[in-house]
Amino acid sequence: MKNRLIPILAAGAGVVALLIGSNSTFAATGADLAQKNGCMACHSIDKKILGPAYKDVVTKYKGNADAVALLSKKIKDGGSGVWGPIPMPPNGPKVSDADIKILTEWVLATK
Ligand code: HEC
Repeated sequence: MKNRLIPILAAGAGVVALLIGSNSTFAATGADLAQKNGCMACHSIDKKILGPAYKDVVTKYKGNADAVALLSKKIKDGGSGVWGPIPMPPNGPKVSDADIKILTEWVLATK
């Protein structure tokens, strides 16, 4: 009896681990992704580091209907010349398109 319970318990724990695992991936926020992908080494919310402060990005693109498309492409491919001569290195394909979209919308929601 005891021996037959162990595999059932083990399987149950596996399912729980899976559920928790997939749940946390699904709930990944822009802030998590920015940490995980090293964005915060060059950016901060309100201070220029190597790249512009996200607050300044929001101010610059306020009212620009193409902001999400423009910035997603820039985050993916990298580039320079908008904020100065220092280039941002490309972040794609290391960062997936889906994550870049979450990151872009998160940056543009900075207050
Ligand atoms: C090695 C440093 C570095 C890293 C890492 C980095 N950036 Fe940048 N980022 C820059 C620089 C420098 C610029 C300014 C480029 C310019 O002047 O065109 C910039 C610009 C930007 C802009 C504004 C683009 C524009 O054209 O106005 C956004 C948004 C941005 N970065 C988001 C991110 C995100 C999200 C990540 C992480 C996936 C990231 N950056 C990682 C250095 C970096």
